[in-house]
Amino acid sequence: MKHVAVLTSGGDAPGMNAAIRAVVRCGVSKGWSMFGVYNGYAGLISGNIRPMGTRDVGGILNKGGTILGSARCQEFYTDAGRLKAIRTLRQIGIDALVVIGGNGSQTGSYELHKLGFPVVGIASTIDNDLCGTEITIGVDTALNIALEAIDRLKVTASSHQRAFLLEVMGRKCGYIALMAGIAGGAEYILIPEVETDPEEVAETLDLAYQHGKEHAIIVVAEGAKYNAEALINYFEKHRDRLGFKIRATILGHVQRGGNPGAFDRILASRFGNGAIEAIDREDYGVLVGLNKSAITTTPLEEVVGKTKEISMDMVKLARALD
Ligand code: F6P
Repeated sequence: MKHVAVLTSGGDAPGMNAAIRAVVRCGVSKGWSMFGVYNGYAGLISGNIRPMGTRDVGGILNKGGTILGSARCQEFYTDAGRLKAIRTLRQIGIDALVVIGGNGSQTGSYELHKLGFPVVGIASTIDNDLCGTEITIGVDTALNIALEAIDRLKVTASSHQRAFLLEVMGRKCGYIALMAGIAGGAEYILIPEVETDPEEVAETLDLAYQHGKEHAIIVVAEGAKYNAEALINYFEKHRDRLGFKIRATILGHVQRGGNPGAFDRILASRFGNGAIEAIDREDYGVLVGLNKSAITTTPLEEVVGKTKEISMDMVKLARALD
């Protein structure tokens, strides 16, 4: 019989609740006692930890956000904070911890693992920048939200013969921008991984205008050297005129809200079960992810401190489709 706690940390992602539900229910089905930690690592330090049963995770599968709450916790960046967290876990009698989160959160998991506490990470972030998994919880839903924004912007852009810059999230990673741009038929996509000359963007817009297009969509990753604001500034300072009138929309946290789609619910359920199976075989200090359609575990030391590389084949595809 094990006592296992679960927490969510960092930026929330649609599907986190489905992962919490799977961790709790798969743990209970093994006869284990399950606990929820509230507000991420902050709750671990303060001892905001409560038992969770099957009914406590009822009705959350379809809900966005995280019922456990999340936080970015400064105290946990210190050794003193981490040792306090481990003390709290040991006082309550927790044998293992499941951490649902992205890059920063899994760095925290790795630190706990190095201090000797049994941890299993679950890959969850809308950015899809985490090594050790082909896809993370929340990406697919966030991507569909960005895609819906593109489709809607095209409608109003066509009515006014305008070009729209749509800035999407992703931190230093261009995954959401690249995929949303391909799926939405964007005229140009700017991502942090590929240096772009803003003049090239202006020329693409000019060309689209001359070809009689009624609208143009440029998707910009927030981490690109020229984000939406920088591009608008460039056009204002360096261009007498562009064919299209330009407007910018920054999608921001809208991408993190809303209900998870089927893909994220299923992925999160599989990851939750994968974490419980990893704990059962005492495979600790690992990240549960998806690779070649299978649920895998990858040592956290191979995951943290890195950013997953974007597929250059997809970049080439985007260029070919421009
Ligand atoms: O990591 C997820 C993410 O949504 C990034 O895409 C974004 O840069 C960041 O979190 C925003 O963080 P916060 O919610 O703290 O503003």
